[in-house]
Amino acid sequence: VINFAICGFGFMGSTHARCLSGRSDARLCAIADNNLSNLESAEREGNLSMKGPKVRLDGVSLHAELEAILRMPEIDVVDICLPLRLHYDWARRALDAGKHVLLEKPMVLDPAQGKELIDLARTNGRLLMVAHVVRFMPAYRALRGILKDGHRGSLEFLMMQRWAGVPAWGMWKDVEVRQSSGGGLFDLLIHDIDIVHWLLGKPSRIQSSVFAGPVSDHDFVNAVWHYDRGCAAILDGGFAFHSQLPFEARFLARFEKATVAFDSARPGVLNIADGQIVESMALEEDPLDGYRREIEYFIECVHEQRWPDECSPESSLQAVELALSHLPEKRISYR
Ligand SMILES: NC(=O)c1ccc[n+]([C@@H]2O[C@H](COP(=O)([O-])OP(=O)(O)OC[C@H]3O[C@@H](n4cnc5c(N)ncnc54)[C@H](O)[C@@H]3O)[C@@H](O)[C@H]2O)c1
Repeated sequence: VINFAICGFGFMGSTHARCLSGRSDARLCAIADNNLSNLESAEREGNLSMKGPKVRLDGVSLHAELEAILRMPEIDVVDICLPLRLHYDWARRALDAGKHVLLEKPMVLDPAQGKELIDLARTNGRLLMVAHVVRFMPAYRALRGILKDGHRGSLEFLMMQRWAGVPAWGMWKDVEVRQSSGGGLFDLLIHDIDIVHWLLGKPSRIQSSVFAGPVSDHDFVNAVWHYDRGCAAILDGGFAFHSQLPFEARFLARFEKATVAFDSARPGVLNIADGQIVESMALEEDPLDGYRREIEYFIECVHEQRWPDECSPESSLQAVELALSHLPEKRISYR
């Protein structure tokens, strides 16, 4: 059994805990969070509604900081679901102490820190994975399957969209946390940046326009990624909106022989249209599914001591570098 400690028990920490509950190969042993008030309810706000099993905290040891967790020899995995500004420091200390690390996205803002974490994990023989959950979501996996099997021809044009209101739950109410989040580009569009990179590789050129919002000068992004083989991807979205705007993500992919469309507002279906018919492919539709698969995959890697190649930290670092290249002069600026 793989023993987890979740650090940061807010929206994402409690979501990861839900994914662990009921598993026989892994369990939640400890939590580190410096605001343990109201923890027992284990209900946290966020921009997705997660209706998974209720998290049971009996037998889970509760702490305010990381040191206590690092002193627990039985902990195998430190699962970091903290605000971005703490990612590097907590991940480094956990890897140094010989723990495997699952780290929420975005990995870091400074690529040198990301590289240091990867080197440390490799040197210490520990696993590091960044929780790029969209890679584990059924619709995006289906799109990759269609691209790889080639039956619909090559991909000519792809549009990825994702938007939400500016986060206003948990620590996001804290100005310093918001202002160190990387804004909509790094916090939200990083998902599509990672997915397009996973599907198509590095583009030869990125044309990007960024727009200011409540948090940063790049809370909304509209970008075109150009590929020499003649295909292009448009990435569009951010959280430059009022906080109660519901989250939505969608994509449109034109292959030579069909167009594939997905909209999170209709999570159970992928539409595949050609010149004659539109075929609806059924998908699992519970928003928790992607998170469950992501955590299951990491548990498998830990069991087998296998580097998480399906979602490698090297690719997560490249996503950060690609995100940076959407900015004029690669400079992050807050409002
Ligand atoms: N993959 C996704 O779909 C997704 C969605 C939302 C957030 N996230 C990511 O998850 C991470 C956390 O975001 P969230 O929305 O869960 O935030 P949140 O504010 O809901 O939770 C953060 C938690 O960390 C705790 N914390 C903050 N500072 C601490 C400290 N110094 N020591 C100990 N505990 C501390 C807070 O008390 C809080 O419980 C971020 O990296 C965010 O980008 C990912």
